[in-house]
Order: sequence, then C-alpha cells, then structure tokens
Amino acid sequence: MQIKLELGDITEQTVDAIVNAANSSLLGGGGVDGAVHRRGGPEILEACRALRASHYGGGLPAGQAVATTAGRLDARWVIHTVGPVWSPTDDRSAVLASCYRESLRVADELGARTVAFPAVSAGVYGWPLDDAARIALETVRSTGTRVSEARFVLFTEDVRRAFTARL
Ligand code: APR
Repeated sequence: MQIKLELGDITEQTVDAIVNAANSSLLGGGGVDGAVHRRGGPEILEACRALRASHYGGGLPAGQAVATTAGRLDARWVIHTVGPVWSPTDDRSAVLASCYRESLRVADELGARTVAFPAVSAGVYGWPLDDAARIALETVRSTGTRVSEARFVLFTEDVRRAFTARL
C-alpha cells in the first residue's frame, strides 16, 4: 500500500472513499464533518439518519466506522468514523488506532482501493498532532488491506509537518 500526504481539503479529493471525522450522532458537525456534509449534500445526511434509525440507534461508538454514499463528492463512499476525544489521564490510543483499522476494514468490504483520511481527533477532539500522526501512520502501515493508496489529506501546515516527520 502507498501512503501519501497532501496539504488540502479532503472534500476535493478524487478517491474511492473519503473518511469523515464524525461524531457519534452521525448528524454532522464542524471541521471535516461540516465540510463533508456541506459539499456532499443532503444525501449523506439522509443515509446517516437511516443508519441511526436502523443499526446505530445509540449512535456510532468511538473507534468504529460505517459507510454511506458520498453524495456530490468526487468519491463513491464516505466512511464515517468517530475518533476519541483526547484525555490527558485516560489513554485512548487504541480507540484512535481502531478508527483507521476499522475504516480500512470497511473500505475492503466496499472494494475501495484509494482512501483519503483526515487527521482524526487532531482538531476539535484535541489530540496532540505528533501523537495523532504516529498512531495514524503506524496503524495504516500495519493493517493488512487491499487498499492500494492511503492518502492523508492535511488541512494545515502544522498537521502536515507532524505527519511528514512521522512518515
Ligand atoms: N479537509 C481536511 N482536513 C480538515 C478539513 C478538511 N476540509 N477540515 C478540518 N480538517 C482537519 C482539522 O484541521 C484537523 O487537523 O481535520 C483534522 C480533524 O479535525 P476535526 O474535523 O475537528 O475532527 P476531530 O478532531 O476528529 O473532531 C470531531 O468535530 O466536526 C466535529 O462533528 C465533528 O464532533 C465531531 C468532532
């Protein structure tokens, strides 16, 4: 698998699947979540609502991933994953690693070969950039998958630097 880093907006990527840094409600938010729904259009929210009404009545737990249509985005699917909120006292690294592992598992189920990832939990959820990059890259590197390209799309220079240092 090729791992690529890119500075940019994940909603402008042309890939099979775009990973969304969602929250458990799956009903949208800010950051990546806001951009995905804004550019992807109402179809995505409709699909998320259907998931809430069926399999995820209590919301999508942190560390898990689920796919929907990508709506108007230049991708076939959006894979929504819920990162853990950073905690200085409770080590949630395994939950953050699970976001990447589960997103790749869902990508394999879909037959997605190119996947764009954001820096999950590194924004609103406050995860320190260097550690977020370490967990992301270590997990993606060590997960067996048929995905041929994992593209980390980083929104700001500081995050890109943190990932580059860890690549
Ligand atoms: N493309 C790529 N990366 C982006 C984009 C974008 N359009 N917008 C923001 N980012 C970056 C942020 O700068 C940060 O580095 O993605 C990383 C993750 O930030 P968040 O989107 O805040 O995600 P997270 O920290 O996981 O927090 C999730 O925020 O938006 C809400 O509904 C979401 O409650 C959930 C929480």
